[in-house]
Amino acid sequence: MNDRQENSHSFRLLFVCLGNICRSPAAEIICRTVLRRAGINAVVDSCGTANYHVGSRPDGRMLAALERAGYAYDGHRARVLLREDGERFDLIIPQDAENEREVHRVISLTARSSVLPMRRWFPAGCRYHEVPDPYYGRDKDFDEVVALLAESMPALVQELCNSTGQSTHPRG
Ligand code: 4NP
Repeated sequence: MNDRQENSHSFRLLFVCLGNICRSPAAEIICRTVLRRAGINAVVDSCGTANYHVGSRPDGRMLAALERAGYAYDGHRARVLLREDGERFDLIIPQDAENEREVHRVISLTARSSVLPMRRWFPAGCRYHEVPDPYYGRDKDFDEVVALLAESMPALVQELCNSTGQSTHPRG
């Protein structure tokens, strides 16, 4: 579990999609990679709002797209969003509007977590308004999701640094 391990001193982020086999595990892997390279301490996890794929590895097409972009799978298995996640994480990041509504339905109105959509960190002029679901798509759709997440992640990490007062220590 290495840097996904629970640590009471770390900022805690949770990415959420529907099945937790395509978009949110990709976001988790890319975010953890960016954080590690920047020398920033945070706990990163992902989950789905549906339970169809609980216990599964990410979709093979997403793992292939991640590998093409230089990101390595580090063992995540799909799990479903729990009400307790609203107390366990500082920031919950739904990948699309439907899953954002689900997050608000599942966690308590008084949950500790902030909920901010992934689109908040999309690059200026981006043609998407949410992370598109690639599940019924082709390889290029998986590549587009990886590219969109990779382009957005530095802005998310920068905002996280600003809010936690951590500075980056690039590790190449
Ligand atoms: P994800 O993609 O929400 O990005 O993991 C999907 C995975 C599975 C299904 C739909 C979307 N499904 O219908 O099984």
